[in-house]
Amino acid sequence: MRLGILTSGGDSPGMNAAVRAAVRGGTDIGLELVGIMHGYEGLIEGDMMPLDNRAVGGILERGGTFLGSARSKEFRVESGQRKALASIERAGLDGLVVIGGNGSLAGARWLQESGVPTVGIPASIDNDVYGTAMAIGVDTALNTVVESLDRIRDTAISHDRAFVVEVMGRSSGYIALMGGLAGGAEVVLVPEFPESLDQIEASVVEGVKKGKHHSIIVVAEGFSPADSPQTEKAAGRIVSDFLAAKGTLETRLTILGHLQRGGSPSAFDRIIACRLGEAAVRVLAQGDSGVMVALSGRDVSTVSLSDIDRPSTNFNPDIYKLINKIAN
Ligand code: F6P
Repeated sequence: MRLGILTSGGDSPGMNAAVRAAVRGGTDIGLELVGIMHGYEGLIEGDMMPLDNRAVGGILERGGTFLGSARSKEFRVESGQRKALASIERAGLDGLVVIGGNGSLAGARWLQESGVPTVGIPASIDNDVYGTAMAIGVDTALNTVVESLDRIRDTAISHDRAFVVEVMGRSSGYIALMGGLAGGAEVVLVPEFPESLDQIEASVVEGVKKGKHHSIIVVAEGFSPADSPQTEKAAGRIVSDFLAAKGTLETRLTILGHLQRGGSPSAFDRIIACRLGEAAVRVLAQGDSGVMVALSGRDVSTVSLSDIDRPSTNFNPDIYKLINKIAN
């Protein structure tokens, strides 16, 4: 059996570890693995290379993805999809492993429906993929956020300032929520709870009344305040401009941006990447497909790719309440 493997969409720490496990787990049971470069772009172009155990040496601890990644526009249109199916045929691939987030997994579902046995592996720092408790890369990104918040708190305390820290998450507040909790944020703002700018200011005032003369406000990039007019401004900028104008505390803005996507994967991400990578090729070798391998509690499970449009349940509103309770 000859399997193709690709990484697609926003990269996340641990993708390399998953490819390594898939290749070595696959060769162990007699499979041949082929790496597809730059996600679905490479599938369309037929840009592939054979991967043996040595080809995936020295990548376990490396961030990013050595296969390259892309958000392929061409794969969303019929002409690109036809080319992709043709190159799968030409390369003699019997199945595919697709590593990525929601968009990439939707591509995996399409391939399965088009007759290519496909298994997905969830990898996205947003942790918004349905059916898995954690996606590959989330833990590392959270650790990056927490380390950043620790550093920012030092300077916030020295200067009695408010710091607005914008983190990633266009439609999911998971990183803001969990990073905010672990980093001791006073306020966390997420797309799931569109608080008003006045409420945000009131939270800062409340902290000051309780004797706290600094404040860390973590804002997900997809947050939009209930009472703010539509604007092109970044979410963090809207909040920091408002708080600065109010003047309760001198205010600064930090946008963490793509810092959160890079870096060596944490132990947790390496562990789940190794487990999910190996599981994906084993599932295909057993003649199963059309599923995503997932983390369910402490175990590896499978979830049908036909379910991946369902909303993830990883964002826990109780955590949001907890943050507000213990903030000051
Ligand atoms: O989906 C992962 C993610 O990092 C989001 O949190 C963020 O909104 C987006 O990707 C950024 O994408 P790009 O790197 O293409 O700008």
